[in-house]
Amino acid sequence: MILQAINVFKQLRPDDFKMLAVMERGMRHYEFVPVDKLSVLSGLASKDVDYLLDRLSKFKLIVRRTTGYVGYRLLPAGYDALALRALVERSVLEAFGNPLGIGKEADIYDALMPDGTKVAVKFNRLGRTSFTRVKKLRPYAPSCSWVYASRSAAKREFDALQRLHPHVSVPKPIAIDRHVVVMGLIDGVELANVAGITEPGIVLEDVIENVKRAYQLGIVHADLSEHNIVVKPSGEVLIIDWPQWVPTSHRNAKELLGRDVENVLKYFRRKFKLKWGLPQTLEYVTG
Ligand SMILES: Nc1ncnc2c1ncn2[C@@H]1O[C@H](COP(=O)(O)OP(=O)(O)OP(=O)(O)O)[C@@H](O)[C@H]1O
Ligand SMILES: [Mg+2]
Repeated sequence: MILQAINVFKQLRPDDFKMLAVMERGMRHYEFVPVDKLSVLSGLASKDVDYLLDRLSKFKLIVRRTTGYVGYRLLPAGYDALALRALVERSVLEAFGNPLGIGKEADIYDALMPDGTKVAVKFNRLGRTSFTRVKKLRPYAPSCSWVYASRSAAKREFDALQRLHPHVSVPKPIAIDRHVVVMGLIDGVELANVAGITEPGIVLEDVIENVKRAYQLGIVHADLSEHNIVVKPSGEVLIIDWPQWVPTSHRNAKELLGRDVENVLKYFRRKFKLKWGLPQTLEYVTG
C-alpha cells in the first residue's frame, strides 16, 4: 500500500499546496476551517476556492464537515503532502519509494535524495487511534490533536538522533519537516525477525554497549526491545525508534532503563540461552 500523498503528489499544483497550507494555518483556530475564511486567507476568489476544495477532497487530502457550517480540515494525507512538498523544495527528497514498515505509530518509506542517496522517511501517526475514538464520542473533538502529537514525536526523535549520532549506532538524522523525519536508510532486519545469529554474545554486547553510550550522553531509549533493534548483514546493530526517549535526569529514567535492558536480556535468554544478569548489566551501563 502506497501513501495517498505519494500517490497524488505528482498531480498537485502550486495552488493545491497553497490551499493545503492555508488550511494548515486555519486549523490552529478552527476544528473545520470555514470556507469564507479559506477565501480570505488564500486571497483567492470563492469560485477558485470551491474548485480547489473539490479537487483536494477527491484526492482525499482534506475532508468536509458534514453538519452545520461548511468547513474543511486537513486529513493526515494532506499533512503528509505539505511535508513532502517542503522536503522536495528544500532539496532533501527527489523521489519517493516503497514502504519499509507500516505500523500503528509510524509509516516508513524509502526515498532518494537529489544526489542519489537512499534514505528512510518516517511519517509519524500519533493520536490517530485516539482521535477516531474521540470523534465517535464527540463531534467537536480537538481536530488538531494528531497534528501536534505527530509533530512532537518527530521533533523528539530527530532531537535524539542528533544528540546520539554518530556516538551511538543509530540512523543518521538528515532532515525534519512537520511530522516527518528523514534519516539514513539501514540495510538490515529487525532483531525479532533475524532467522539465526552465529555469535549472539557479540550482538548482545554490541546492543548493551550502545545503551551505555546513549546513557553517557544523557539519554534512555524507553521503548527498547527486539523490535527496535536492527541487525545489519555485517552483524552490526542499530537502535531505532527514539521518540519516547527520556533524559537520564528524568525521575523514571532508572526504571525505564531497567525495563529496556531487561527486555533485551530476556530476548537473548529465551532465544539464544545467554544468561546475563540484570543487576550486573545495569551496573555496567550506568557505571
Ligand atoms: N532508518 C531506517 N532504515 C530502514 N528501515 C527502517 C528505518 N527506520 C525504521 N525502519 C523500519 O520500519 C520499522 C518501524 O520503524 P520504527 O520502529 O522507527 O517505527 P514505529 O513507531 O515502531 O512504527 P510501528 O508502529 O510500525 O512499529 C522498523 O522496524 C524497521 O523495519
Ligand atoms: Mg518500532
